Formats: sequence, C-alpha cells, structure tokens
Amino acid sequence: MTVSANSDVHFDPYDVELNADPYPMFRRLREEVPLYYNSEHDFYLLSRYADVHGALTDPTTFSSARGAILELIRANIDIPPGVLIFEDPPVHTVHRKLLARMFTPRKVFELEPKIREFCARSLDPLIGAGEFDFVADLGAQMPMRVIGMLIGIPESDQVAIREHANAQMRTEAGKPMKAAEEGIDTGEIFADYIDWRAKHPSDDIVTELLNVEFEDETGTTRKLTRAELLTYVNVVAGAGNETTTRLIGWAGKVLAEHPDQRRQLVEDNSLIPRAIEELLRFEPPGPHASRYVTRDVEYYGQTVPAGSVMMLLLASACRDDRQFPPNGDVFDINREAHPHLAFGIGTHFCLGSSLARLEGRIALEEILKRFPEWDVDLTRATLSPTSTVRGWDAMPAIIR
Ligand code: HEM
Repeated sequence: MTVSANSDVHFDPYDVELNADPYPMFRRLREEVPLYYNSEHDFYLLSRYADVHGALTDPTTFSSARGAILELIRANIDIPPGVLIFEDPPVHTVHRKLLARMFTPRKVFELEPKIREFCARSLDPLIGAGEFDFVADLGAQMPMRVIGMLIGIPESDQVAIREHANAQMRTEAGKPMKAAEEGIDTGEIFADYIDWRAKHPSDDIVTELLNVEFEDETGTTRKLTRAELLTYVNVVAGAGNETTTRLIGWAGKVLAEHPDQRRQLVEDNSLIPRAIEELLRFEPPGPHASRYVTRDVEYYGQTVPAGSVMMLLLASACRDDRQFPPNGDVFDINREAHPHLAFGIGTHFCLGSSLARLEGRIALEEILKRFPEWDVDLTRATLSPTSTVRGWDAMPAIIR
C-alpha cells in the first residue's frame, strides 16, 4: 500500500544492495510516494525535509518512548529509565538537562588539544607508508577515545568498551539489529569505572554526575542512582561512537571523489567546518530515526493510524532539493548553507553535535596536513552491516 497507487517503489531498509547507494530510491520516495507504507516490516515512512522536520519537532504525536529504531518499536520491549534517546518529555527533559552537563561548550572546547594529539599519534606513523585506512587507522578509534576523555575512562579500557558498544548495534547483513531480541544494554561494562570513580572523586564529569542533586519527574530532589548513571554513560557511548567513525570514513570517500573541493580545503583550512557540514548532509551516518505514532495523523490525503511506526528518513530529507536547491544530490562545500537534519532536530537534537563537529574538523585538518591527496580503493572498502548507522568498516586510501 502506498499513497500513489501508480508507483512501484519498494523500500526495504535492510536491503544490503540498496544500502550501497540508496539515494536514487530516496529521490523516488520523495517525489512519488512522500508517505510510504512498507507492509513487510509494517512501518510508514516520511522522506521530504519539511515532513521529517515537522515530525521530529512534534514529540506528542511522534513518540520516542518505545524506542527510536524501527525494530525496537516493533518489538515493544521494556526500555530502562535514563535512555533519554528513547524518552518523551517531561521525563526526557529532566534527563537531557542532566546529561547536557557533559557537553558544555567549555568541556567540548577543552578536548581540542587532546583530540589533535590523538590524531597526530595515529597519523604520524603512517607518513611514508603509501596508504592508510580512514576507518581502521583513525575513524574507528578516535570517537571512543574522545568519549573516554570526556568521561575520564582510562585509555587501557577504551578498546574493549568500543567493541562492546559497536557489538550492540551490529546486525547480520540484511537483518534487523539484535538488541530487539536481547533488550537494551544497561551499561554494566562501565560499572567498574564508575564504582572506582565514586570512591576516588575528581573534577571530572562522572564525579559531577554522581554528586549532582536534581528534581526528578515526580518532583523529588535526589541524586542519580548508580544504574541511571551507567545508563547515561552507555547512551553516550552508543550514540557518539559509531556515528562519528562513519563520518570519518565518508570524509575519505567523498573527498577522494571531489578532488577540486579537497584542494580548496588544503589551500584554505577555514573551509573545513563547511566541508564537515556538507559531508554530514551528503552522507549522514544516521540515515533514519523512527517514532511511535500516538494519534491518527494525515499526510497527503492518507491517514496514518495511531499505533503505527513512522520511520523518518533523515538521509533523504538531507538531499531534498526543496531545502538544498537546486540539486540536493550534488556535493558542494560552497553551497549556500541551509540547516540539515543529520543530527535530527527538536527534542532529541544530537547532544554530541558540537563534539562530533569538533572531531570531524580536527580529523580532517590533521589528515589534510599530512596527506593532501589520495585515491580510495573501493575494491577493498567494506560497508558496515548495521541497520541504524550507515558507513564504512574499511576505507583504504592510497596516498599520491
Ligand atoms: C557524526 C556524528 C553523529 C551523528 C550523525 C549523530 C546523530 C544523531 C541523531 C540523528 C540524533 C537524534 C535521534 C533521534 O531523534 O531519535 C542523535 C541524538 C543523540 N546523540 Fe548524536 N550523532 C553523532 C555524534 C554524537 C556524539 C559524538 C555524541 C556524544 C558523545 C552523541 C550523543 C547523542 C545523544 C546523547 C543523543 C540523544 C539526545 C536526546 O535524546 O535528547 N552523538 N544523534
């Protein structure tokens, strides 16, 4: 069933072949079936910028409380309190305000020299090697190191934690994610660190969150429980890790395919923040977010009944010509800036967006400084088999 009976568009979000280049399909969805229904996986889909924006900013109609991922909402599993990405106001507002303490401009700004040093440490040994991998050699490691810096996790524990966070999102190619069957992870892997920090307070964010008094959704003033804090840290690790890894992989591929724009960036580093914005728009690492529909809503003359699942196709909205004229499918760091939806919008707007932008900018500055020109070897590049995050597990670059 589609809005346009004449359209033969069939969109399967788990289709591995389609995932390799979904944009022609996204254009068809926007133009032919702006409200689409997939009967196999039983969900509706909005793909135009204005519709996706409207739904993300209406949490009363489009709830996150049953999850923000198609398979989680459909599985109707229990979501532990504190997983703010899967909550609605007013409880979400309380939790977000607490977690926002991690991402104050000062805390993010202070990370810059450390992130730069980490990039230098990763990239310097590769000078003269003739090739490097955007993901394996930098992108896969940096985001978890940065989250570790943010919350104070010792470097020796960071690799295990990254692997754990990624394993939660892994899917077999073409299959929904496992979490739908296994329930939501409660962050036990961070327990040792948090317990140790409780006994050894410092001036870091975990100590601050362990001590902060806040008014909860029942009006009670109290401190966070250990379980809540574990959940918070786990949410940050889950949301901020693989997404940023994928951004760095996409930077390698897209800039290799646009050497003139890459040259512009080498000649004028001040253009790099614009390039990061355009990369996020052009290849958003999180291609969709989903919502539970709480009341009947109408789009294009068709009713979406209460109780449905609505997928919001951020990656399609980010290519919509109506928002990015004249042609959203063109990568252009010099295009007139318009807001994109790679970080969502509204209630759940990405809390780590300034950190992700900072990581992207520093990674690109440090890469371009050492390797101004490269070709990517797509025969060895591999797409990651994740249904929620889209990007590369390997993106080998041959240095010219
Ligand atoms: C390129 C990198 C990133 C992308 C593309 C991205 C994308 C997103 C998107 C689309 C959402 C909204 C989901 C929804 O509406 O259901 C979101 C939320 C969130 N992101 Fe990010 N993200 C990135 C990096 C990060 C980083 C580095 C962190 C933290 C270290 C982070 C932490 C969060 C958190 C905590 C939320 C939930 C906010 C809430 O529910 O109020 N993200 N992100």
